[in-house]
Amino acid sequence: MNSLAVFSLKGGTGKTTISASLGWILAEEGFRILLIDMDPQGHLSHFFKVHPRPDQSTLFGALIADQPLREAVVPTAYPNLEIIPAGAENWHLNEALIARPWREWKLKDALEAAQPLPYDLVLIDVGGNLSLVTYNALMAARVLLIPVLPDLFSYLSLKTLFAFLQETGQKYHVFFKMVWVLINKINQHRPLDRENRQALEMYYGKFLVPEVVREDAKLVQALREQVPVTRTAPQSTAARDLKKVARFIRMTMLGAPVP
Ligand SMILES: Nc1ncnc2c1ncn2[C@@H]1O[C@H](COP(=O)(O)OP(=O)(O)OP(=O)(O)O)[C@@H](O)[C@H]1O
Ligand SMILES: [Mg+2]
Repeated sequence: MNSLAVFSLKGGTGKTTISASLGWILAEEGFRILLIDMDPQGHLSHFFKVHPRPDQSTLFGALIADQPLREAVVPTAYPNLEIIPAGAENWHLNEALIARPWREWKLKDALEAAQPLPYDLVLIDVGGNLSLVTYNALMAARVLLIPVLPDLFSYLSLKTLFAFLQETGQKYHVFFKMVWVLINKINQHRPLDRENRQALEMYYGKFLVPEVVREDAKLVQALREQVPVTRTAPQSTAARDLKKVARFIRMTMLGAPVP
């Protein structure tokens, strides 16, 4: 199963924005996408205006009580795009995982038990911390996409994340098939942004997605209105950049032209 985790240690780098946008664009192109909102903040679920129904199983139920993951899926307003939303019980997911055997592998196991799933890609939005919830997302994903801002702290946190990935990879014998770093919210007119981009190219060149997502207020506005930017402002900088990133993901992960 094709699975992509969008994760950075640093908060506010655009993980949720990019998860939502890639989900929208790829689903619009005809790919069947399952989003999983692993962040207890539930921002991805908020964008899609979805909550778990009171009578259905949830991500929490699937990971803690072995409920079927398939039954936690909720449709969105968009064709080909479904989501496992975050509910209030996700606030306690990390705590509940601590007592479970094989606690880092619960999402991977639940996804495997749910096969065959009718999706081309599972896209997981992860909160910016190193909890057991994060471990579950990382263990379940085959590809990792790390959004970074062109600033010093993003750069430093990238260094920490790569060291962490190496250490955990050795400990758990899991390695991603691909790891990509995506520069987000860049403003090429700011000299510091250009400098930081050069530093990222120098030290992380082979991991960099060859596209960047430029800073664009249209994206913020679209997200606030809970509508895809590709729909509200298809010619905007953000829509065009995100489509290029989606194309990159399509070429590298889905290996397929638009169905
Ligand atoms: N390319 C962009 N241009 C302008 N604003 C952006 C861009 N990408 C993200 N943002 C804005 O940056 C803020 C943080 O984005 P987002 O919530 O997606 O980050 P995050 O990494 O998911 O945060 P958290 O760590 O809290 O989960 C939001 O207000 C979002 O609208
Ligand atoms: Mg987020």
